[in-house]
Amino acid sequence: NVMKHVSGIPQLEKQLKNILHLSRVVIVPGNSDEQPWVKNEMGLTCVKVMESLITDNTVIAIMGGTTLAAVAEMMHPFKQSQKKPLFVSARGGLGEQVENQANTICAKMAEKADGHYRMLHVPDQLSEESYHSLSMEPSIRESLLLIQSAGMVIHGIGDAMTMAKRRRSSQELLDKIRKEHAVAEAFGYYFDQNGKVIHKVKTIGLQLEELNDERPVITVAGGKSKANAIEAFFKKGPDSVLVTDEGAAQQILQNN
Ligand code: BG6
Repeated sequence: NVMKHVSGIPQLEKQLKNILHLSRVVIVPGNSDEQPWVKNEMGLTCVKVMESLITDNTVIAIMGGTTLAAVAEMMHPFKQSQKKPLFVSARGGLGEQVENQANTICAKMAEKADGHYRMLHVPDQLSEESYHSLSMEPSIRESLLLIQSAGMVIHGIGDAMTMAKRRRSSQELLDKIRKEHAVAEAFGYYFDQNGKVIHKVKTIGLQLEELNDERPVITVAGGKSKANAIEAFFKKGPDSVLVTDEGAAQQILQNN
């Protein structure tokens, strides 16, 4: 049974599942804020969950971030899958350092899983005008259809201010985040502690509304510093399998 390997700390997992109203939570020991290898442990756990959930639809949509980069680092070929997996980048690039971009991460995952990949060659933050013209490009439309057809989605959650600064966002957005108390970021959406969207970056690629119950979503996010972000995101966020660490889990429990 694959699940035996990935479940530790069962009591904590049960409590977190109830607080966040999720169908499944897997917690790895440690706090990735302080122990860098814990991020790789979350990565490996995510790979095992992916392996257990893979179906005939082997298209996997991938987001960016250092946590997803750790998933790529720990990737290996899926044992039960007959077909080679196809990793599709669900986000464009340029806003982040190259190693944290979805494109880089999905190419690395494909290499390590002995699969294929498809990148999304667009900037991550767009003006209204370029958004419309780029959305009409045939090659981009094709990528978007592929992303929408994905059988699984893997994404991270960030702390709002950390992400806004990392993306070198405008002073206006930084002020808005402060004033409206945004705590979480995912998919280019910024959320306050009640899960209300206070800002949305115009991006081409997978949108939050496109996540539905039909395909599994795996969220990978940990570290004590992300406790508020994780809790805020799941106030309104989709049901998913959450892979996190003890640092985040203990802090969320303390807050409730
Ligand atoms: C970004 C994703 O690339 O990574 C965000 O687009 C997410 O949605 C972020 O919040 C998380 O980054 P990290 O480095 O904390 O895993």
